[in-house]
Amino acid sequence: MALLEIVTYPDERLKKAAQPVERVDDEIKKLVDDMAETMYAAPGVGLAGNQVGVLKKVVVLDVDYPDGKPNLIVLINPEIVEKEGALTWEEGCLSLPGINEEVQRYAKVKVRALNLDGEPFEIQSEGDVLAVALQHEIDHLDGVVLIDRLSFLKKRMLHKQLVKEKASGAR
Ligand code: NI
Repeated sequence: MALLEIVTYPDERLKKAAQPVERVDDEIKKLVDDMAETMYAAPGVGLAGNQVGVLKKVVVLDVDYPDGKPNLIVLINPEIVEKEGALTWEEGCLSLPGINEEVQRYAKVKVRALNLDGEPFEIQSEGDVLAVALQHEIDHLDGVVLIDRLSFLKKRMLHKQLVKEKASGAR
């Protein structure tokens, strides 16, 4: 396993759509291992391919680890197949360090994906960090980051702040 470099905003790779994985082979399994190690080391609750500069539809998630034992969820080619309701959740992102903003999301989502054996499965959640994280990570695969979900003015302000910090070498 190896730690990967986490891409930070406004890197272009965060704005691009990831491509579907055609086959869950050893290369994908190694990518998942490295992404999980990188996520736990950060630490964070989720990481999408774009965030390590790999434009493939791969997500690792663990919303339990911070307060308990590891419970890694691997999503390959995830898609939201059901969604309803609304909630507001304060979110952060490893690619947008220092940003914590309230984002409007669906309250309940059902996601279909492939597991590491290449078999389809479904996962759903409602009104909790998992429901939000699923949407946040799938957004990454579509080239969308959390500040894209904010008002135009707020996004513009945070964009300037992040670009300035990056340029000054603060991160
Ligand atoms: Ni993120």
